Amino acid sequence: MRTLLLLWLLVYRSCALEILFDFIHVSGMGFHSTTETNASVTTKSLCSCRQQCFSQSFCNAWTASKVNAHYECHFSIHGPQPPTSPSPQPGAVYSYKITGLSGLIDVHEGTDGDMYFVPDKELNFSTAINYCQNIPGFQLALLKTREQIEIANTISLQIQDSFHIHLTHKDPSTQIWGDGTELTEDLKDLVKIPWCRSTSNIGTTYRVKDSGIHIICCRRDMYFLCQSKTDNGLQ
Ligand SMILES: *[C@@H]1O[C@H](CO)[C@@H](O)[C@H](O)[C@H]1NC(C)=O
Ligand SMILES: *[C@@H]1O[C@H](CO)[C@@H](O)[C@H](O)[C@H]1NC(C)=O
Repeated sequence: MRTLLLLWLLVYRSCALEILFDFIHVSGMGFHSTTETNASVTTKSLCSCRQQCFSQSFCNAWTASKVNAHYECHFSIHGPQPPTSPSPQPGAVYSYKITGLSGLIDVHEGTDGDMYFVPDKELNFSTAINYCQNIPGFQLALLKTREQIEIANTISLQIQDSFHIHLTHKDPSTQIWGDGTELTEDLKDLVKIPWCRSTSNIGTTYRVKDSGIHIICCRRDMYFLCQSKTDNGLQ
């Protein structure tokens, strides 16, 4: 009986306190239940749905919606699949295992505590922004500290290629991060910014060369770095 109680406490409390460490959870979204479902169950709670996904090794994402007094819970072998999945679904809940994200560089935690991930795809700048945004909890990377630039530097060396980050420029001396803030003076010595022909919203790419760290202006399809948002609902 005591074991049962302990088990109940562990299971119940871990869900109530939302300490299952590697799920990202969003409301109002879901995957397509007929084309992406590998298994379905009916549960009494969202918690139970999540636990069943967690305990099945094939499951990388689940979606659930309330039907009368219970939840219809669907499991998928796939995590987020931008640009089509997950998609807005009023009343549904979507959740995926962050460890299920795979790419050229699988999702891993940087020394700054954020998660980084290089999808195995080459896209232009605006499409790359959308791709990362369509993975709940992620964005095209903003490298606002020396540490973050160093993290990206290491990843770039690993893939031996450059990639898009979310930096654009207004004029040759003013670079703007995707959140609207300017590249700060203290980082300017780390980036070599050549003259770019157009001052419009140019896709800017981060690149590492033996002579240092370069920001290059580039419109072509390239790899890109997705980064977890600081307030990403990681649970
Ligand atoms: C899961 O579903 C996908 C899409 O329907 C299918 O291609 C795949 O074979 C299924 N895998 C398993 C393990 O059921
Ligand atoms: C980026 O790629 C998308 C999809 O291939 C395309 O529709 C769009 O026009 C491209 N944008 C630019 C600025 O090249």
